[in-house]
Amino acid sequence: GLGVGALLKETGHVTLDPGFTNTASTTSAITYIDGDAGILRYRGYPIDQLAEKSSFLEVAYLLIHGDLPTHAELENFTDNIRRHTLLDEKFRAFFSAFPRRAHPMAVLSSAVSALSTFYQDSLDPFDAEQVERSSIRLIAKLPTIAAYAYKTSIGQPLLYPDNSLGYVENFLRMTFGLPTEKYEVDPEIVRILDMLFVLHADHEQNCSTSTVRLVGSSHANLFSSISAGVDALFGPLHGGANQAVLEMLEQIHTNGDDVESFVRRVKNKEPGVKLMGFGHRVYKNYDPRAAVVKKATRKALELLGKPDPLLDLAVRLEEVALSDDYFVERKLYPNVDFYTGVIYKAMGFPTNAFTVLFALGRLPGWIAQWREMMSDPSTKIGRPRQVYVGKTERPYVDINSR
Ligand code: ACO
Repeated sequence: GLGVGALLKETGHVTLDPGFTNTASTTSAITYIDGDAGILRYRGYPIDQLAEKSSFLEVAYLLIHGDLPTHAELENFTDNIRRHTLLDEKFRAFFSAFPRRAHPMAVLSSAVSALSTFYQDSLDPFDAEQVERSSIRLIAKLPTIAAYAYKTSIGQPLLYPDNSLGYVENFLRMTFGLPTEKYEVDPEIVRILDMLFVLHADHEQNCSTSTVRLVGSSHANLFSSISAGVDALFGPLHGGANQAVLEMLEQIHTNGDDVESFVRRVKNKEPGVKLMGFGHRVYKNYDPRAAVVKKATRKALELLGKPDPLLDLAVRLEEVALSDDYFVERKLYPNVDFYTGVIYKAMGFPTNAFTVLFALGRLPGWIAQWREMMSDPSTKIGRPRQVYVGKTERPYVDINSR
């Protein structure tokens, strides 16, 4: 009757699985991935259908509450978020404390952590009403924080949220608008960014989500747990890949668009040279999100009237890689980050803000996973074991004798 974990414990054994390539940390009813077939579903709904038909806030509701909202539920959820978009005035000073060149992901994680200092009335992880309030606060305030980090970095005034606008349009206006001008943006561009947020909204037990769960498993509050998730996402092997992809494309372009010689360097495993935006721990087939993004990239560049040689370069790089044995044998395909950077760049975002966009999209997934864990009575504090490989016991050596 013992589970595998209990059985191993009983017999004094531990499993060693670096990188957790084959160890499930939890059961979950939120997101389903079949990496061999290239399938991704949130709460049972295929990602391509959600990307085409749903909105980001609808998907946030779906992930957190388990079902698609009715009209009334969505209205209520959206309205609640709209009423929480402001940051405390004292919070504005926070942004000016960082150097201009601060990476916005570092500012974002600090700011999310700092939210717990302002909202001490919603920190109890076991009070459902408080958890709901901190979830709403996070979803509402993250775009304001992201926009303020950007505005501060370029020395422009901070704009208050305009709550007559939709979630994504409000974010774009706070990012690119000026107090002296009326902000206008093509609704189709708003829709594309909304759709990109949908594609990023959850991805089961990835590095940042596992981090959110691990931190939360100590009963740390939601803001602290999400702040840790932002830090995990920062790394170039995870969310930071979208920034790394664009830098890679720019470098290849500057060096004369020699795709073949770059691919050769990747295959020779030159230190630090990887085909960024390619490969995935779980997908051993085309990432279904990458297929949607690829289509959207062309459309976005057309709408914005900003053709970009980096897109043609990315397409060629993909073609060369997908017909090369190195990538075929290892089942390396473009992941969600391969094309997003080209769209973000055309929209006007600086390269170092790309991973922040990923964080805005991933937020509902982090929240949903944290809440699922907290409401499961079988949850225990996350505490991996180790296999000790250090010195055996030896007597202390006095400093004069070393
Ligand atoms: N370029 C070149 N070779 C690669 C790449 C790549 N992007 N990805 C994997 N490989 C190779 C590895 O070198 C390894 O080769 P080997 O068997 O000869 O040693 C083989 O493919 C297996 O790769 P692993 O590193 O063992 O796979 P793992 O599951 O640990 O890593 C990861 C997955 C981190 C995503 C990896 O593919 C990678 O670094 N990709 C580039 C960064 C990236 O795009 N990250 C974003 C991931 S998606 C996301 O977070 C949204």
